[in-house]
Amino acid sequence: MNIQQALEQADYELCNASPSATLDAQVLLTHVLHCNTAHLLAWPEKELNKKQTSNFLSLVKQRQSGKPVAYLTGFREFWSLNFLVNDSTLIPRPETETLIEFVLNKFTDKKSFKLIDMGTGTGAIAISIGKEKPDWIITASDVSTDALELAKKNAKHHHTNNIAFTQSNWFENINTTDFDIIISNPPYIAENDPHLKQGDVRFEPQSALTSGKTGMDDIHHLCQHAKDYLASGGWLIVEHGYNQNQLVANCFAENDFTQIKQSQDLSGHTRMTAGKK
Ligand SMILES: C[S@@+](CC[C@H](N)C(=O)[O-])C[C@H]1O[C@@H](n2cnc3c(N)ncnc32)[C@H](O)[C@@H]1O
Repeated sequence: MNIQQALEQADYELCNASPSATLDAQVLLTHVLHCNTAHLLAWPEKELNKKQTSNFLSLVKQRQSGKPVAYLTGFREFWSLNFLVNDSTLIPRPETETLIEFVLNKFTDKKSFKLIDMGTGTGAIAISIGKEKPDWIITASDVSTDALELAKKNAKHHHTNNIAFTQSNWFENINTTDFDIIISNPPYIAENDPHLKQGDVRFEPQSALTSGKTGMDDIHHLCQHAKDYLASGGWLIVEHGYNQNQLVANCFAENDFTQIKQSQDLSGHTRMTAGKK
């Protein structure tokens, strides 16, 4: 089997299982061949050896059963950085980059900010900001020790030296009370949301996804307690679902946050709310 035949066969096998069959096939084949997409396009007639063929077909089969491409390759790109991923936490999503953009635009000239990323998962938020702001003092926390191990590996891989990692159920083990920014992409999907039975989320841990009957339990908790851990004038910034913007804005207002701001992702959905103490 050559590269072109492998891609055609995978495309055919994945077309009913994935909305991005052609791209998935290319990503899986570049992973098996340790090459980039340009190589696949330049050498369509190049033969795969036996091991490469069986590895590729095995990955296609797993993708056909719904397993996310990122869990098959072990990587996902976020903020132009490659993050190790595994099933201990969420695969980083492009909409979360909205939070990074907000922070970097709003606090461009702040030299030595103190920031905590709560529910850090792979460390995507903490590490992306840590790379952009090497002088900031950053804490990354998660309730899951497996997720924290993964985040530490990612921090090492990206040579970020300004991040401390703490296992904590939200604020339980947090002793610092003068953060300039508390940022979080918490679980925010309602427990009975039908989307949980579709696509990649079927393979991601519920603990990273769901938050009570309305999906708002963790956001409520963060809004209620964040002020005790923020410096005067500090900011709480959270990601949320596209249909939760009013609920989240109300929650910020009820907890006396001011200057409430919301931002949209690339699809035009409001996915981030920020407020000042
Ligand atoms: C939606 S994922 C976000 C992961 C990562 N920050 C990102 O943006 O890709 C939510 C994360 O919150 C963590 N989490 C869930 N409940 C928590 C709790 N009670 N305290 C701290 N972290 C929690 C999960 O383990 C998971 O890593």
